[in-house]
Amino acid sequence: MKTDPRFPKLHIVDHPLVQHKLSTMREKKTPSNSFRQLLRELTYLIGYEVTRDLPLETRTIDTPLCKCKGNFIKGKKLVIIPILRAGLGMSEGLLDLMPSARVGHIGLYRGPDHKPVEYLVKLPSKLEGRRVILCDPMLATGNSAVAAVDTLLKRGVKPKDITFVALVSAPEGVETFQKAHPEIELYVASLDEKLDKNAYILPGLGDAGDRVFGTK
Ligand code: URA
Repeated sequence: MKTDPRFPKLHIVDHPLVQHKLSTMREKKTPSNSFRQLLRELTYLIGYEVTRDLPLETRTIDTPLCKCKGNFIKGKKLVIIPILRAGLGMSEGLLDLMPSARVGHIGLYRGPDHKPVEYLVKLPSKLEGRRVILCDPMLATGNSAVAAVDTLLKRGVKPKDITFVALVSAPEGVETFQKAHPEIELYVASLDEKLDKNAYILPGLGDAGDRVFGTK
C-alpha cells in the first residue's frame, strides 16, 4: 500500500491486480458489464485492506474431526453506505465481503458550482457505535464526500467510526476532504493527476455512474 506525504489519512491500494483492473476500467472501450464486474472485484481488493483492523473474537467450533478455536468478527454489524448512484457499484462488492452488514443510502447530485444537493438519506436506525464504510468510486471535488460525512456526523456517528472508500481520487478532492474531516481514513486505488474544468478527474475513467449503468 502507498501513502502520500501531503495526505496523512490517504491509503492508496496499489497492488498489481488493482492497477491492472483499474487500467482496464479506464479504457473507454471497456463495456458496462465488464466495468461493473471490475468495480466489484476492485472493491474486494480495497475492502480487504479497509477491513484489516476489524476486531475478532474467539469461539470454540467443531470441525468434522475435532474441536478447535475459531476467530470471528466481533461487535455490531457494520454499515455500508453508497453515495448514489455510482456508489452502488462498490456497495455490492462490500456486501459480498460482509453479507450481514446493514446498508444505508445517501443520494446527492451535483448542483450549481458542483455543490452537492441531498435528495435522499435512508440509514439504518441504530448507527451509534457501528463502523460505517461510505463508498463512491470517484473522489473528484470532494464536496459530495464532505457532505455525506456531514450527514452522518449530524446523526451521531463519530468520525473514528467512518471510513471513506473510493476508486479514483483527485488531489483537489482529497485536500478538501481532509481539511473538512481530518480524522477520517480514506482508501483509494489511485490518486490521479488533477481535475479538468468540468471537475472530472484526469486521467480518470469518465462518468462512473454512466459507465456502471450504461447510461449517457
Ligand atoms: N464523477 C465521475 O463519475 N467522474 C469524474 O471524473 C468525476 C466525478
